[in-house]
Amino acid sequence: MPTFWHIYIAAGTILTIVWCGWLIAWSAKQGPQNKGDDELVGHVWDGDLAEWNKPMPKWWLYLFFITIFWGVGYLIAFPGLGGYQGMLGWSSSGQYDEEIEAAAARYEPIYAEFAAMEWDDLVRHPEAQQLGASLYASYCTTCHGSDARGAKGFPNLTDDAWIWGDSEQQIVTSILNGRNAVMPVLTPALGGDEGVANMVTYVRSLSGLVEADAAATAMQPMFVALCSACHGVEGNGNPLLGSPSLTDGVWLYGSSIEDVTATIVNGRNGIMPAHGELLGENRTKILAAYVRSLSLDGGSAGGMQ
Ligand code: HEC
Ligand code: HEC
Repeated sequence: MPTFWHIYIAAGTILTIVWCGWLIAWSAKQGPQNKGDDELVGHVWDGDLAEWNKPMPKWWLYLFFITIFWGVGYLIAFPGLGGYQGMLGWSSSGQYDEEIEAAAARYEPIYAEFAAMEWDDLVRHPEAQQLGASLYASYCTTCHGSDARGAKGFPNLTDDAWIWGDSEQQIVTSILNGRNAVMPVLTPALGGDEGVANMVTYVRSLSGLVEADAAATAMQPMFVALCSACHGVEGNGNPLLGSPSLTDGVWLYGSSIEDVTATIVNGRNGIMPAHGELLGENRTKILAAYVRSLSLDGGSAGGMQ
């Protein structure tokens, strides 16, 4: 903040306090000063209901002054006057940092203990799952949803369809380093609208959504030539490239004719951001085990409400 604003705020604060003090002192001098000095102001209602002007009780007056002294003391001790830091050296960001450090010191040994466990045990460990669920709630719900069932473009983490693989190493890598999926634009190679439409029918037939007609069946060699390098000859996908299976009936970007056409015509570029720096390895492993448990029978699937 430029110095001008520091001075502006500090001066405004001090003037307001001085003005409050003056206002209270001044108004205390108005009207009758002593107990016996009550006077009738002259307003009368209903014939006999008269308005008195009585002096303010002294204790009431002192309360006002005490709040002013309190405010001044507070401004000396804590930051409040422009750029002045306060005598106690307190700051909200300093307090936040201290709390984060204290929490890390407290929880890191717990994280380390869980992270040292065998994967299969960790995936089924109730306390580790609870910890994983709270980490999930803090870091992952924005994209994968609070129930981890994802949304269009954001994979469902509770089903058996894994784009990048379901092993410990694969899930940990997904979270730690992130993922970057590239489905290229292939319209030109498909020979325009008709080729695209036939390919869409062919792709949708792989999971039984439609019956492939003759024109669509004729796209099979084209699929092998253009698509199989990533999706496999049968369309089963490849976790190394993050190219999803086209046969399992699970669709990241939707299964309608419009959705599949848009995928092929515009390409897709799903990005899972790297979380390694944010979470560190121990928390990542706990989180990965939690994510894995979501699609296991008897795991904590559906545990996130
Ligand atoms: C260079 C590798 C590559 C090639 C070649 C490729 N794809 Fe893909 N495809 C991908 C990747 C990676 C994704 C996932 C994109 C994402 O997650 O953002 C994908 C996604 C898709 C999807 C969306 C699946 C879903 O679940 O929503 C369809 C449909 C698809 N590809 C069809 C095709 C067809 C048809 C061809 C051939 C004409 C083809 N792809 C060629 C890599 C490829
Ligand atoms: C900014 C959005 C975003 C956030 C935040 C995010 N993800 Fe993702 N995640 C994605 C996208 C998009 C993909 C799919 C990438 C692709 O197209 O293949 C993905 C993929 C994944 C995968 C791979 C799924 C599979 O089928 O192989 C896992 C596991 C995963 N995320 C876990 C997490 C966890 C755990 C967190 C919390 C630490 C998290 N994600 C936070 C967007 C996000």
